[in-house]
Amino acid sequence: EVGELADEIGFKAFAVGGFVRDLLLKTANLDLDIVVEGNGIAFAKKVAEHFKGKFFPHEKFLTATVTLPNDFKIDIATARLEYYESPAAMPMIQLSSIKLDLSRRDFSINAMALQINREQFGTLIDYFNSQSDLRNQVIRVLHNLSFVEDPSRIFRAIRFEKRMNFHIGPHTKGLIGNAVAMNLFGKSRDSRFLSELKIIFKEKDPLGPLVRLAEFGLFQYLWPDLRPNYRTDRRFCHGIRQTKAAIKKLYEIEPKAKIDKSVAFLLTIFHRSGPEEIQAFCNRFNEEEKICKKLLQTKQRCDALLPILYTPMAKSELHQHLQDLNYEDLLYICSVAKKSHIHKSVLDYLCQLRHIKPLLKGKDLMEMGYPRGPKFSEILNSLKRAKMDGLVSSRADEEELLQK
Ligand code: CTP
Repeated sequence: EVGELADEIGFKAFAVGGFVRDLLLKTANLDLDIVVEGNGIAFAKKVAEHFKGKFFPHEKFLTATVTLPNDFKIDIATARLEYYESPAAMPMIQLSSIKLDLSRRDFSINAMALQINREQFGTLIDYFNSQSDLRNQVIRVLHNLSFVEDPSRIFRAIRFEKRMNFHIGPHTKGLIGNAVAMNLFGKSRDSRFLSELKIIFKEKDPLGPLVRLAEFGLFQYLWPDLRPNYRTDRRFCHGIRQTKAAIKKLYEIEPKAKIDKSVAFLLTIFHRSGPEEIQAFCNRFNEEEKICKKLLQTKQRCDALLPILYTPMAKSELHQHLQDLNYEDLLYICSVAKKSHIHKSVLDYLCQLRHIKPLLKGKDLMEMGYPRGPKFSEILNSLKRAKMDGLVSSRADEEELLQK
């Protein structure tokens, strides 16, 4: 249908990038990227109107995002027409603009297009041997300056390699080595590094790409205070595994929990770092002020709490310590605690403790003649604590406790 809208407006339209890659790999991909040879914004507006979706233009880049009522997202971009002055007296040459668009992309596997106009629907456009790379499971750049233009592509290469179980081709690997040797990272304050790192944290298994980043010598730019011999630094890998396991458990208990995974993983990585190092990391990669504050505060709060949690305590006391913590705090405690009973305590808190309520309600207390006032919630809280600690288990028990 989108293709027919393109026909109406007279533009060639193509699905491109990760969508085509994943389609050929038969993997699900929920984001559709479309490139049109024509004005992308005008086309996006037409698509949004047709599907009664929302339309967000980015005038500067001639791109727009359309969100359909079912939340499906379509990114629409304009394939820029560029004219090349050819030598001698030849006229100007206009490169096929979709070819130019694809040639600027990161890796061959992401540089295919699928035409969606009605008559040509499904025509695969592959100028760079992408299908063969996909078959051979190779990540390959399209030109030698790819990482110089955009060093964050190194993170992407590693992410795709680990996610799809591909391998980075030998020439591309060499170019990564050159980019690292040229210190392209050391000089940069590019926030794209952080965005790519955050996507790695969202992968099913972030440890693989993180170890690969270290193998390419990139930890010294990301976390200079981490020991360079990360291979022997078992604690780094252990921390990442623990965080992953804790997130999994939390989702089992609370499938809809809103977890900021990058905060959770960064906190684990920064477990042995001081506030200066965290601040320096945030400054270097232009992290949002709000997130930086969250990292610093969570770490301070939880580091102070950890030794307290090591001592045995009643459940009601545990509840008191944990009740104001958010998910990232609890995940951090789970991930870095050295004693396994802490995991159990935090999980017990999440599964049970925080949901416990006394059987007697405010209404019952009123009927029993207790006057409304500040004492009221104090009584209910003490009933709740007694229930947590197993001192009462029925309404009669609660009434008896009140008599006392
Ligand atoms: N792209 C690029 N260079 C970058 C980022 C993106 O060339 N630094 C191109 C790639 O062609 C990519 C497309 O833009 O396919 C869309 O980018 P993105 O949505 O980040 O990647 P996907 O390939 O869709 O990957 P994912 O499956 O992780 O969403």
